[in-house]
Amino acid sequence: MAGGGGGDLLLLLHVLLLAAVMSARAPTAHAWGKEGHYMVCKIAEGFLTEEAATAVKELLPGWAGGDLAETCSWADTERFRYRWSSPLHFADTPGDCQFNYARDCHNTNGEKDMCVVGAINNYTSALKDSSSPYDPTESLMFLAHFVGDVHQPLHCGHVKDLGGNTIIVHWYRRKSNLHHVWDVNVIEKAMKDFYNDDVATMIKAIKMNITDEWSNEEKQWETCRSRTKTCADKYAEESAELACKAYEGVEQESTLGDDYFFEALPVVQKRIAQGGVRLAAILNGIFGGNRRIQSS
Ligand SMILES: *[C@@H]1O[C@H](CO)[C@@H](O)[C@H](O)[C@H]1NC(C)=O
Ligand SMILES: *[C@@H]1O[C@H](CO)[C@@H](O)[C@H](O)[C@H]1NC(C)=O
Ligand SMILES: [Zn+2]
Repeated sequence: MAGGGGGDLLLLLHVLLLAAVMSARAPTAHAWGKEGHYMVCKIAEGFLTEEAATAVKELLPGWAGGDLAETCSWADTERFRYRWSSPLHFADTPGDCQFNYARDCHNTNGEKDMCVVGAINNYTSALKDSSSPYDPTESLMFLAHFVGDVHQPLHCGHVKDLGGNTIIVHWYRRKSNLHHVWDVNVIEKAMKDFYNDDVATMIKAIKMNITDEWSNEEKQWETCRSRTKTCADKYAEESAELACKAYEGVEQESTLGDDYFFEALPVVQKRIAQGGVRLAAILNGIFGGNRRIQSS
């Protein structure tokens, strides 16, 4: 049949084009890496009340195997299918180290509430309201993911460089960008150098700090006076402030090595801890109960 070879060529062109589109898109990803989200959710699991843990388990999709943490990167894989959800992963600012909801929480079309803070409020109220038309399983998975994202400082980075995505740096010898350093590179290096390349070991170390080093602060992390909304705007303010420090001294083509790594790592570990504790507090607020299950 004529056209077989042409078909193959067309297929090849298609594959090449797709590869080009994907690689053009890759640097503007907006998310803690898989590990960051997994750790936030694993830590949250240990702070849930029995009621909340049960309610969460009932909402999880079958493929999660009963573990919330397995679903915490789902929102990143859906962002191309649900294109409208892409701006919900972050809330960039003009660069004044402050987050201002009215000014900063919108998508590029100027649609209000379309940012990570609006999304956390959106999915929290959807889960509280049994008459909400939104799929509760998706609401839970979005919520768990976005509470992680809002704690990554560069998710409240500067608009002009897309939260550090367009700032190309050398992470030690490898090419990266500032956003990716905070999403992935710092965690990856810490795992390799200190935690035997084992995410469970890193989680254990962070949890030990929560019950020990940070036990006095931990109660304040959870405190939220708002009765109608979450305190996600506060978490974004903290991130915007931390982002300004993360940008300090970093320019196009900067090399970031040990000095930068050892400044960033304690911040990353604390933000993961705060994300976990606060996600649990939000879920406990939604599903009720006050008896925490034993933190293991
Ligand atoms: C709220 O959730 C719905 C359902 O997923 C979505 O269509 C809408 O864009 C969301 N809005 C915000 C601000 O997150
Ligand atoms: C534990 O807390 C100390 C002091 O805040 C910090 O320097 C260190 O990075 C933390 N380690 C972990 C694993 O969170
Ligand atoms: Zn994300």
